Amino acid sequence: MSANAVTAEEVPVTEEVRPVVRFLQGANLLGQAPLVEGNTLVEHAEDAGVRIPTNCTSGTCGTCMVTLLYGEIPLPEILPPGLDDYLVEECARLGCIGIPNGDVDVDIRPPL
Ligand code: FES
Repeated sequence: MSANAVTAEEVPVTEEVRPVVRFLQGANLLGQAPLVEGNTLVEHAEDAGVRIPTNCTSGTCGTCMVTLLYGEIPLPEILPPGLDDYLVEECARLGCIGIPNGDVDVDIRPPL
């Protein structure tokens, strides 16, 4: 072994960078949580210690509406009653059914 050889124990472990869901109110970062695949925005908010109000928890009432600032929260093919095309154009998403799929920033307030 040469003097410069690195053994397996010495190889630095590169930390896996997990996607993060961040919750803002304007410019204020309220909290953040690591992405848990399949969890909704509301569940991520709970993990982050941030409260998003809910009512129906089924995409119907719009109580949990937030504004997507960055990233992707896929929409169902048929929009639920709590959203319409205009709201979607304004980046509205529903926290109770919205499932982020990577780094996401949301403002916990609705867009309108
Ligand atoms: S709580 Fe009613 S749409 Fe989310």
